Amino acid sequence: MAPSANLGLCGLLATGLLSSTSLAANVDPRNALPAGVVAAPYYPAPYTGWVANWTESVTKAKALVDTMTLAEKANITAGTGIYMGEYVCVGMTGSAPRVGFPQLCLQDSALGVRDTDNITAFPPGITTGATWDKNLIYQRAVAIGQEFRGKGANVYLGPVVSPLGRKPRDGRSWEGFGADPVLSAKAAALTIQGVQEQGVMATIKHLIAYEQEMWRMYNIIQPAYSSNVDDRTMHELYLWPFAESVRAGVVSAMAAYNAVNGSACSQNSYLINGLFKDELGFQGFIMSDWLAQMSGVAAALAGLDMGMPGDTMIPLLGNSYWMYEMSTAILNGSTPVDRLDDAAVRIVAAWYQMGQDEDYPEPNFSSYSTNAVGLLHPGALIGPTGVINQFVDVRADHADVAREVAQDGITMLKNDDSLLPLSSDTPLFLFGTDQAVNADGPNACVDRSCNTGTLGMGWGSGTARYETFNDPVTAIKANATNVTTYNTDSFPSDIGTVSDDDVAIVFITSDSGENSYTVEGNYGDRSSDGLVAWHDGDELVQDAAAKFSNVIVVVHTVAPIVVEPWYDLASVKAILFAHLPGQEAGYSLSNVLFGAVSPSGHLPYTIPVSEDDYASTVSLTGFEFGQIQDSYTEGLYIDYRYLNKVGTKPRYAFGHGLSYTNFTYTNATITKVTQLTTLPATRTSKSGLPSYNTTIPEASEAYRPADYDDIHVDRYLYPWLSDDDADAAAATGAAVTAGTTDGYNYPDGYSTTQTAGPPAGGGPGGNPALFDIAYTINVVVTNTGSTYSGKAVAQAYVQFPDSDFDTPIIQLRDFEKTDTLAPGESQTLTLSFTRKDVSVWDVVEQNWVVPVVDGAYKFWIGEASDALYLACGADTLTCNDGQTSPV
Ligand SMILES: *[C@@H]1O[C@H](CO)[C@@H](O)[C@H](O)[C@H]1NC(C)=O
Ligand SMILES: *[C@@H]1O[C@H](CO)[C@@H](O)[C@H](O)[C@H]1NC(C)=O
Ligand SMILES: *[C@@H]1O[C@H](CO)[C@@H](O)[C@H](O)[C@H]1NC(C)=O
Ligand SMILES: *[C@@H]1O[C@H](CO)[C@@H](O)[C@H](O)[C@H]1NC(C)=O
Ligand SMILES: *[C@@H]1O[C@H](CO)[C@@H](O)[C@H](O)[C@H]1NC(C)=O
Ligand SMILES: *[C@@H]1O[C@H](CO)[C@@H](O)[C@H](O)[C@H]1NC(C)=O
Ligand SMILES: *[C@@H]1O[C@H](CO)[C@@H](O)[C@H](O)[C@H]1NC(C)=O
Ligand SMILES: *[C@@H]1O[C@H](CO)[C@@H](O)[C@H](O)[C@H]1NC(C)=O
Ligand SMILES: *[C@@H]1O[C@H](CO)[C@@H](O)[C@H](O)[C@H]1NC(C)=O
Repeated sequence: MAPSANLGLCGLLATGLLSSTSLAANVDPRNALPAGVVAAPYYPAPYTGWVANWTESVTKAKALVDTMTLAEKANITAGTGIYMGEYVCVGMTGSAPRVGFPQLCLQDSALGVRDTDNITAFPPGITTGATWDKNLIYQRAVAIGQEFRGKGANVYLGPVVSPLGRKPRDGRSWEGFGADPVLSAKAAALTIQGVQEQGVMATIKHLIAYEQEMWRMYNIIQPAYSSNVDDRTMHELYLWPFAESVRAGVVSAMAAYNAVNGSACSQNSYLINGLFKDELGFQGFIMSDWLAQMSGVAAALAGLDMGMPGDTMIPLLGNSYWMYEMSTAILNGSTPVDRLDDAAVRIVAAWYQMGQDEDYPEPNFSSYSTNAVGLLHPGALIGPTGVINQFVDVRADHADVAREVAQDGITMLKNDDSLLPLSSDTPLFLFGTDQAVNADGPNACVDRSCNTGTLGMGWGSGTARYETFNDPVTAIKANATNVTTYNTDSFPSDIGTVSDDDVAIVFITSDSGENSYTVEGNYGDRSSDGLVAWHDGDELVQDAAAKFSNVIVVVHTVAPIVVEPWYDLASVKAILFAHLPGQEAGYSLSNVLFGAVSPSGHLPYTIPVSEDDYASTVSLTGFEFGQIQDSYTEGLYIDYRYLNKVGTKPRYAFGHGLSYTNFTYTNATITKVTQLTTLPATRTSKSGLPSYNTTIPEASEAYRPADYDDIHVDRYLYPWLSDDDADAAAATGAAVTAGTTDGYNYPDGYSTTQTAGPPAGGGPGGNPALFDIAYTINVVVTNTGSTYSGKAVAQAYVQFPDSDFDTPIIQLRDFEKTDTLAPGESQTLTLSFTRKDVSVWDVVEQNWVVPVVDGAYKFWIGEASDALYLACGADTLTCNDGQTSPV
């Protein structure tokens, strides 16, 4: 989501949010598309209630919603307006107090509770992905869930799996876990599990193909860009993490700003009704991204369940596409009653599914003020004041898990002459302003919209405030006896003679964020700096390397940077990608530098030799008149999949990461668990669907209460209508029902008959048979070093046998990290491969197909995508080491 704290109307204007106006309704949302691209109609919106472990929640929800009036149902399906509500979260729904249903507090961000105090600023997704540690990913999520719950937030607006990282310059990929659908999917599923076990609703976002910041929103001049994605690429890359998230039980989702195939994601019926709700079997609710809702009836029909933050594209005027407009649309017959009922049931069911009906704390903070007392409804600009912040400290010992994630994400790319680890008395010289926290404080720039001092996270809504910031210089000084610091990005000219034992540590960065801010010429995406280190970082490294014979480069970055200008200089002996460490930037790094732990992170993306090594289609899409068409013609081939296909060696491969010790992967065995067939077993049909009363309700259900004039807050969004307006809408509805007047002009392909659902569906995430374990592999990982303990990651990639389907040479399918292994110690890891892992999406069959049953699939196991020496065959059911790595 976009709007930032502490930004009034002027701030919104300045950030360009208001360039989206209701005039956009005049922009044809379906500009001409490239040949063959279609946004097919898919109606009606599938009801929730047919997935087994939602049955109880849906039944309870249906019972509660059955007792709600029209106004109450309209109230709980939309936000009350931006900056509205007592204790203001970034989104607040209306409530149904008469029947005991509360306002829901929806809060950013994926890395911690945004815009409030006494919280932990965890490392973001990209660092979490770089740990490749399922247990740690889960532990981080447990801690995040506890903090959201402690602040009384009902909904955690994370995790992020779109952007996936298709474009190296994209601004927000760091909020997600890495440029691979499986790494992303497994990390998202564990995050959902950890958060939801605390009773907090997780939100998988942003549906979908949201791979660029610039031109992402519909506005008066232009529609948002359209991501044109073919069916197979959608299934095998971009939808994959959403499928695993639904399977993990995620209860909410967010539609992206952009369009897919020319149709805005928040009202794309094929996307929401077809792919997400019917095929993936999503039973919870889907909300719009903030101010991304573009219509009332059309969005409802296309399956949107919650409008956020409730406003039209111009916020703060008291206008909504839903709320009172929803009441009107139901009464005049344009939106069928069962669509509103289903949306309300989905929201209430999600609340029951998380147990939030029992002892869930109320929100106790305001995102828009740090004062104890202030305006209860800041969006109203005037009005009552009261307690808005209770300063609840939710941190517990979460700094520990935050530090462990930051530490275990640190990825060592090079360590010549075993320069690392350092001893504490090595003379150290620190260069680069990234070594120390921003002198004006870590929160000096709103939503971290500057790159000053240590870079702990990117900028935008995906951030949280730092309550504490442990910077590298502080930690290094605490752990070493002889440290000289040069807190500058230009190499000082006055450094005297240095000795051969002196070590320079050079800190460099690359930043990006959300398009709501421009930082040093970068419009969210790295539009200006590209894949080059900021603040002349390359020069700083080169200058240090010219002077010192031992240089360690520490990189804090959102995504890959090109390291060619210095990576192979003789004195650049060690390179550490510390990604984005969050608040625990210091000891996480010094623990690695001084050998308290071995580095154990692995790259969650590829570091190319040159940005030009990628397909040209993954560069940023520039301005075009009309709708910008972003065609995903590279298909399945992004990141390592692409470089492998064209035979281009990266500088550092996806999955690469060194340790202070060495590991072997031996004694592997493969077991066939399930005998596959070409197609999965036929899905079961939907059962247990609720039945709804489709008669238009009485107009009186939307009448304003008698005391409306006394209670209503200016610009607040309400579901009520004046008696006259309600009666007029009902009269239209009656005339339409009677056939005496034309009704709503429904889109082509519109229907109200619930469908059986596609063959690829049938359970959460798709046909349950897709998740049958087909094969498992056990592998023994041994620390063969003699000095250092360490953790190893076993990465498992599938290579498909030859068939009619073109597939990437290798694709990640599973991974496991060991515990800390002492020298000589071994651990057996188990890797699993499902039916889906060995299938391709067949666009004709519209199903997942195993191209060659029991075929010559090779499962490659190793410590990086270009260091795979152990392979197990699905045909031979044997494993062999000493193989030549396939790429
Ligand atoms: C987009 O259009 C392509 C054809 O170019 C089609 O294969 C795909 O299913 C469409 N996707 C959506 C979400 O409409
Ligand atoms: C709608 O929600 C608001 C905010 O919680 C509440 O004040 C109002 O009473 C609700 N309206 C109905 C019809 O319940
Ligand atoms: C519900 O779904 C989740 C996620 O797939 C699963 O872990 C859990 O076992 C299911 N519960 C029931 C009762 O089926
Ligand atoms: C944290 O909470 C305490 C009360 O427990 C409060 O005094 C303090 O101001 C809060 N910290 C911040 C930064 O608001
Ligand atoms: C610190 O390192 C510098 C540079 O190598 C050296 O000249 C100095 O003697 C060292 N100081 C101590 C106390 O070891
Ligand atoms: C670094 O300093 C911290 C704080 O004094 C201490 O807890 C930690 O053990 C030290 N680590 C090393 C490797 O010396
Ligand atoms: C690990 O193995 C490589 C090559 O086999 C060797 O060069 C290196 O010295 C070893 N490192 C350690 C820490 O044992
Ligand atoms: C691996 O297998 C060999 C026999 O092939 C055996 O000698 C060895 O102990 C096994 N190693 C481990 C760590 O299980
Ligand atoms: C269906 O709704 C209509 C309008 O509110 C109401 O008159 C009717 O009694 C309802 N029917 C049932 C079976 O509840």
